[in-house]
Amino acid sequence: MPSAAPLAAIVLAAGKGTRMRSQRPKVLHEAAGKPLAWFPIRCALDLGASPVVVVVGHQAEAVEAALSAALPGEPVRYAVQREQLGTAHAVLSARHVLDAHAPPGARVVILSGDTPLLRPASLDAVLAGLEGGARLSVGTMRLAAPRGYGRIVRDRGGHPVRVVEERDATPAERAIGEVNAGLYAADAEFLWEALRRVGSDNAQKEYYLPDLVALAAAGPGGVSTVEVPPGEAAGVNDREELAAASRAIVRRIASDLMRSGVTLEDPDRFQCDEGVEIGPDTVVEPDVRLRGRTRIGSGCRIGQGSVLSGAEIGDGVEMKPYCVVEDARVGARAIVGPFARLRPGSDIGPEAHVGNFVETKKTRLGKGAKANHLTYLGDADVGAGVNVGAGTITCNYDGEAKHPTRIGDGAFIGSDSILVAPIEIGAGAYVAAGSTLTEPVPPGALALGRARQVNKEGWAERRRAEKARKR
Ligand code: UD1
Ligand code: CA
Repeated sequence: MPSAAPLAAIVLAAGKGTRMRSQRPKVLHEAAGKPLAWFPIRCALDLGASPVVVVVGHQAEAVEAALSAALPGEPVRYAVQREQLGTAHAVLSARHVLDAHAPPGARVVILSGDTPLLRPASLDAVLAGLEGGARLSVGTMRLAAPRGYGRIVRDRGGHPVRVVEERDATPAERAIGEVNAGLYAADAEFLWEALRRVGSDNAQKEYYLPDLVALAAAGPGGVSTVEVPPGEAAGVNDREELAAASRAIVRRIASDLMRSGVTLEDPDRFQCDEGVEIGPDTVVEPDVRLRGRTRIGSGCRIGQGSVLSGAEIGDGVEMKPYCVVEDARVGARAIVGPFARLRPGSDIGPEAHVGNFVETKKTRLGKGAKANHLTYLGDADVGAGVNVGAGTITCNYDGEAKHPTRIGDGAFIGSDSILVAPIEIGAGAYVAAGSTLTEPVPPGALALGRARQVNKEGWAERRRAEKARKR
């Protein structure tokens, strides 16, 4: 889709976002795991814009830091608008950065940091509005309830004349359903020249970017308008619009996944970050949440209510309901859950089983190893085919430092065992149920670390007799 002529973009993200009622700048509120402004920046990059100049202002350092972290290696530059004097002033603040990095003669598209649903094809259509010789092209949309948007005022011949902001509009103008989508394309020469002529004589005493429409309409070449789907240009100004935009983004991710062969049992009860990958023939049950750089293989089942963050799941894994996985790996055909918690650094081997109420942290489980019930494995290296009995606990922390536990291939750890680390259980060894072990166990040995059982014959009978006497 990238067109031949050089293209640069400006994304406006300096505002506070008062209507969010938040300590956090609006453009850093997240949808599908990305800051809002990530989406229009990504859209401009996908259309081939280079550079994309992001205008930051309110909490500028935080916004720049979050966006550069989310867009590593991309031709994104930042310009600071010290005071938020309006959208036209914001664009002017980007000029020196754009001039320094954009190729000469570049056309410029301008987007808002708060319109995350825009697709490259619509931005391209706005850009194509310049082709007939117009100096400015503006994206518009038709809304049944145009509240909050600038209205497009046309003359009797139907030509766009100007944009009027809601606060400055007459009742008749407010009735106009055609609004400014906040998307613009212009050649740089027109842009800088016209911006110098924008004033601030309006209700907000701000420099309004939409005033470019009147300036272009009055000059040679004129202005063209390009209608974009309302579902794409909706702005996020408050938390309700944020929720609606997040839903729409996740729904798009869900559609893409389903088209690629993933079954989502209920796409409306699915949360997924941008960038998650899932292989074909994987079934995702309702209420699953997939975050960060999660990758899931093919032919898996991800059980209801599971939350995976930075997870790497091999092919054919069966994850039963309500598992929580964070920065951990699960090998092919392993069975996990229900109610398992795999914490950072867990590496569950192929065909291993991790059952209910089992917690692992920085622990490797070898191929086919099993820890099926009520167990904590921390800083442990568990060999292939090991069976970890119910209630086993690695005591990895002595109050000051963490210590490792090593369990050799094929060992059998009886139920309710306490392994005080650092400790090593040799390959093929047995640990008797209920043991508390502090010493290494040689390979093939049986370790018993519990009090010997004592049976007192007739004790119950004697106790009852004594009670009867006292009564
Ligand atoms: C703006 C348009 C309106 C249009 C609507 C579409 C103006 C004056 N009005 O209204 O015609 O219908 O978008 O969504 O442009 N920003 C800055 N610096 C500033 C002011 C704003 O960077 O000094 C940024 C904001 O962070 C935001 C974007 O510009 O990302 C738009 O500002 P916002 O206040 O949301 O404008 P709207 O009232 O939505
Ligand atoms: Ca807005």
